[in-house]
Amino acid sequence: MNTLIANFKMNMSPEETKNYLITFLSRYESDKLDLTLCLPYTSLYVGNYLCKGKGIRIGAQNLSDEETGRNTGEVSGNMLKGSGVDYVIVGHSERRKKFKEDSKAINRKIKVALKNGIGLILCVGESLIDRNTLKTKEVLKEQIEGALKGLYENELERVIIAYEPIWAVGTGQTPSAKEIDSAVKEVRKVISDDFSEVASKSIRIVYGGSIDSKNVKQFLSCKNIDGFLVGHACLDANEFLKICSLVR
Ligand code: PGA
Repeated sequence: MNTLIANFKMNMSPEETKNYLITFLSRYESDKLDLTLCLPYTSLYVGNYLCKGKGIRIGAQNLSDEETGRNTGEVSGNMLKGSGVDYVIVGHSERRKKFKEDSKAINRKIKVALKNGIGLILCVGESLIDRNTLKTKEVLKEQIEGALKGLYENELERVIIAYEPIWAVGTGQTPSAKEIDSAVKEVRKVISDDFSEVASKSIRIVYGGSIDSKNVKQFLSCKNIDGFLVGHACLDANEFLKICSLVR
């Protein structure tokens, strides 16, 4: 377990990101972690500048599903690549809900990112209603198949799946380690059925949703996951450093 992704969401001006990173980098030990900081677009430059040579990847939180064109306000895969971005988050529940992003749009975004040499952090997860009506497996299958439609197996090397139950994102609630294990087994089964068993074993899967330095310990023994996606708790450099040292 060594993958850690930080989702800064819509937080921090470039100046605030700079101050955060100066504190964070002064105590960060990079040796065993594969860390990606998914910053707001406006902080990509400062993130790249300060993290250069520190063994930290820079990620974005969104990209356009079109390569180019008249899309005021959108940011293309090519622009992200040119800004030093290695990974981009797609399918986050906040974007699925607020911006009505469906599986077709997510699939197009994934293809644009791959074409531009950018890796994906694909978020999937069930709502509380899905969970209570025992539809978790069905929802995961539909989200994964929709997002990864038409991809070649070797492209999965550039995809990390983040299992993020919607009811756990930003709520302080988390599933049990057993529940995570069962959902992640389903994710691996879908990959095995649609691609291959080899792909299902090697694809990286992380858990995300209300992870902090206190509750992360109970999930460190989950053998089926490769790490975590951290939202709110990454915004405090000291708290995030604690998480980094526990996951390492
Ligand atoms: P959270 O966010 O850790 O604040 O729940 C996770 C996410 O949005 O990916």
